[in-house]
Amino acid sequence: MNFTDHEIEAEADRLLRALMNVECDDRRTWNLETCRELAPLTLDIQRLKREKGAIILAHSYVEPEIIYGVADFKGDSYFLSLQAKKAKAPMIVFAGVVFMAETAKILCPEATVVVPDHGSGCSLADSITAEHLRGLKALYPDAAVVCYINSTAAVKAECDVCVTSGNVYDIICRLPQRRVLFVPDRLMAENIRTELKRRGVDKEILSSDGTCMVHEEFTPAQIAEARTRFPGLKVVSHPECTADVAAASDFVGSTGAMMKYVRSTQAPYFLMLTECGLVGRLEVENPEKSFVGGCRLCPYMKLNSLEKIRDVLAAPRAHQIVTLDEELRRRAARCLERMFELAPSD
Ligand code: 13P
Ligand code: SF4
Repeated sequence: MNFTDHEIEAEADRLLRALMNVECDDRRTWNLETCRELAPLTLDIQRLKREKGAIILAHSYVEPEIIYGVADFKGDSYFLSLQAKKAKAPMIVFAGVVFMAETAKILCPEATVVVPDHGSGCSLADSITAEHLRGLKALYPDAAVVCYINSTAAVKAECDVCVTSGNVYDIICRLPQRRVLFVPDRLMAENIRTELKRRGVDKEILSSDGTCMVHEEFTPAQIAEARTRFPGLKVVSHPECTADVAAASDFVGSTGAMMKYVRSTQAPYFLMLTECGLVGRLEVENPEKSFVGGCRLCPYMKLNSLEKIRDVLAAPRAHQIVTLDEELRRRAARCLERMFELAPSD
């Protein structure tokens, strides 16, 4: 599709206003020239969205040109699952990873849910199968079975309730069972034990052995070094980090909670121990704050691109369309609905 020079110039200007504060992205410089190159693509995607009645849900970890160029909703896993549940659109493009798109399909089965890249897995979601979980359930028949949202639809279908990093502690506290089998994040399980202890809640948390390949890499030594270099630094981490990193941080929370913390905290510098996409969002939305390096890239989130979004909107291929067995979807939906019932309202 051809756009006029005027349309391209106006779109490049809009993109530059949104993206010029993104500094953490050392792969690219955001200037009028780079935005002019992107403009025909974002204009094409906007046209295709109108033609197909599609919406784009984007996790905060994807590239900033997706978040600020074409997304209708951007945020953390919980926020995006709520948007999918409310969605009326006939088509949802999920710029994130496959388990997130599956969650959208579970909650909005009438929509065609597509992923720009079907290889966008997740080291946590890929760490456990439904069969493995059934084996663990057999060992602990009295336990409440809780899955982190970073799990496949087949694993969700086996669980009593799903949680996200934003509501995990409150939901686990509300469960009647003392024993909880939490899958698949071993490091988050450790952080849950610490938080329950802090709240004076007596529960036994059992877990499987998954980890997030991005968050497990952060270390207390990295924090100590940054604190020496940047006096007054606030360290903000995700509960997928190790317990040692969480203990050395000033704040631990979901990506949404991390954003709120930065917005409401005065500090000369912030070290964000999470995926770099979130730091890009913070730089755009808090231009007066300073972020010191240290974030890491999730290779799966980075498989999303504007080109792939355009192509999947124009003509989705079979492997890009999320399909679920209806009986499995119904069981997974029960696990997610229980989360919405038990999650604290903001
Ligand atoms: P949030 O729910 O905090 O956005 O986390 C999702 C995720 O994949 C973190 O690695
Ligand atoms: Fe999965 Fe970690 Fe990537 Fe989040 S950052 S999608 S948990 S691999």
